[in-house]
Amino acid sequence: MAVVNANYLKLKAGYLFPEISRRVNHFLKDHPDAPLIRLGIGDVTEPLPAACREAMIKAVEEMGDRATFKGYGPEQGYSWLREKIAAHDFQARGCDIDASEIFISDGSKCDTGNILDIFGDSNKIAVTDPVYPVYVDTNVMAGHTGEANDRGEYAGLVYLPITAENNFTATLPSDPVDLVYLCFPNNPTGAVASREHLQAWVDYARTHRAILFFDAAYEAFITDPAIPHSIYEIPGARDCAIEFRSFSKNAGFTGTRCAFTVVPKGLKGYTPSGDAVDLWSLWQRRQSTKFNGVSYIVQRGAEAVYSPEGQTQVRQLVSLYLENARLIRDRLSKAGMAVYGGVNAPYVWVKTPNGMSSWDFFDTLLHTCYVVGTPGAGFGAAGEGYLRLSAFNSQANVIEAMARVVATLG
Ligand code: MLT
Repeated sequence: MAVVNANYLKLKAGYLFPEISRRVNHFLKDHPDAPLIRLGIGDVTEPLPAACREAMIKAVEEMGDRATFKGYGPEQGYSWLREKIAAHDFQARGCDIDASEIFISDGSKCDTGNILDIFGDSNKIAVTDPVYPVYVDTNVMAGHTGEANDRGEYAGLVYLPITAENNFTATLPSDPVDLVYLCFPNNPTGAVASREHLQAWVDYARTHRAILFFDAAYEAFITDPAIPHSIYEIPGARDCAIEFRSFSKNAGFTGTRCAFTVVPKGLKGYTPSGDAVDLWSLWQRRQSTKFNGVSYIVQRGAEAVYSPEGQTQVRQLVSLYLENARLIRDRLSKAGMAVYGGVNAPYVWVKTPNGMSSWDFFDTLLHTCYVVGTPGAGFGAAGEGYLRLSAFNSQANVIEAMARVVATLG
């Protein structure tokens, strides 16, 4: 008898975005001609930067020539890419991060789930509420939680509410926790963390020998110069933080797949008896056993992000999506809605009107405006009463979507 991983049976319904697709497809069956505008999943819509495309085409040609063909690449990723990342994304911001501490991967979603492989089962885990569902579901799958209650909260996890009332800034847990997921700029609320807030987390983690999982997939959208882009801008973070980064949202790689994770050398976890263990070595062992790297072609595409042309083109992409976020905020707030985020992030977090539930507001927008959002409740109990709108679409679609929504609200 093949026994399944019973932890999967604890998971609530489907993963959020497939569940939304299911509802949208059901709607489209009855309304096949509805001019739908998708502001739901944070999937980019604009073409890859020319610099990345040209680099990948060149790499394909190299793969077609015996003299330049590449087989398996280095498990951690090619050093020419890791060195560019270290220089541009970290050293240029004063962060003491070396290329050898960077692990190239096929996505931050995968890495934030996979990282649990190198941690034990007895850790106390804290997540914000609302939260990117992957952090919670991967812990459920790994058996780190009990069952979910009616609000969708899993026993054993520590939920830290982030709402308009606390300015989307979590209060640090009063009881010690061992692993903390932080995502800034935040998915789903679009909030950012000040240097002081991040310093408080770093101090907390060092005091409790905890590890911060810092998901910075949206750092390219930071417009405020006072906001840190990396946790390693905070003194002490090398001793307590692992950072996840992605090319998905800045360079449009959601379908191309390239990301990276930073594990500082010297960062420690502990055996149950309290002996220190090097986390870099464990992650290196995990990756070299279970992962064969990102294709040469895609890594060349990612490298081109750091060329002068690539930098210009990426900035243009990010500006386009940020202008969409501004338009969403502007149109909805003029219509009397309370809106948050969307200034340093591609997500706008909208308070539902008249106390409507977030799934009801989702259905209203779908059925009357043909606009797809993401119900806040899908990100956790404290997301109830909110809806997330993504700025990843063309400007024309965003303008049209907002006109429809405002007309309905009016
Ligand atoms: C989202 O919509 O929250 C993102 O697309 C999730 C992701 O990047 O996996």
